[in-house]
Amino acid sequence: DGNKYMRIEKSNQVPTKRLPDALIIGVKKCGTRALLEFLRLHPDVRAAGSEVHFFDKYYHKGFEWYREKMPPTSEGQITMEKTPSYWVTRSAPRRVYSMNPSVKLIAVVRDPVTRAVSDYTQSASKRSSLPRFEDLALVNSTVTWGGPWSVVDSSWPPVRLGIYARPLRRWLRRFPRSRILFISGERLVVDPAAEMARVQKFLGLKVLITNKHFYFNSTKGFPCLLKSESQSTPHCLGKNKGRSHPYIDPVAIERLREFYRPYNEKFYELSGINFGWP
Ligand code: A3P
Repeated sequence: DGNKYMRIEKSNQVPTKRLPDALIIGVKKCGTRALLEFLRLHPDVRAAGSEVHFFDKYYHKGFEWYREKMPPTSEGQITMEKTPSYWVTRSAPRRVYSMNPSVKLIAVVRDPVTRAVSDYTQSASKRSSLPRFEDLALVNSTVTWGGPWSVVDSSWPPVRLGIYARPLRRWLRRFPRSRILFISGERLVVDPAAEMARVQKFLGLKVLITNKHFYFNSTKGFPCLLKSESQSTPHCLGKNKGRSHPYIDPVAIERLREFYRPYNEKFYELSGINFGWP
């Protein structure tokens, strides 16, 4: 009978590459890799392993090129990708919207001060003679009173990227707030299963990623995985994730906290979540 045959054929469907249903759009150094690797534990999630950079660098290549970068999925599986630079790409909200206006967006955010130090630590690991963090983040002002380190250099990318309110305003011009999930980078470290439950519910997935998947590696100071699809033994993210940070002068930290305070307040208001950063 024809109908029965059709049904069999459908359930045996060959996996196909599809454009993403959900994107991790940022923020750089907030835990985007951890979030993606944890999500990949879910049998109904398939994600591109490396950052595709379609909506910032390769948009001119077209949606077919983008689709080819995706892993094959069966019906019912979610296709995903993470590229943290989308968060601050001015044209990204419009471009993402034109791909799929009902796409789901996820942004991981973290205290902008530790995010800046993390960003700096990454640069310092690639360049040996980088000035101290304090001397890059803060400048001496001769115009205003205040002495050394009186002014925060908001044009320095590690500082600038911690102003979350501005890019969020741009995303909210295209997408309703309910379509963007905000994940706390701090909670992703302290209680990964709880944060992952929020993500799974947001994506309409059964909550299968739970406490059983994680153990806390006290040497590394981060949650690690007991097993994953590619590795059956316990393992942590690579050594470029969860680096130890240099000592930063508390005066500089306090200056940065003061600098970020109004932007953080604005971000809490726009996102509807008080992240409680100091
Ligand atoms: P540090 O290396 O400065 O500690 P991203 O993947 O977006 O670049 O973010 C990197 C950050 O993810 C790390 O910054 C670390 O703090 C955070 N992170 C969150 N969960 C982690 C985990 N389980 N293992 C390692 N790093 C994790």
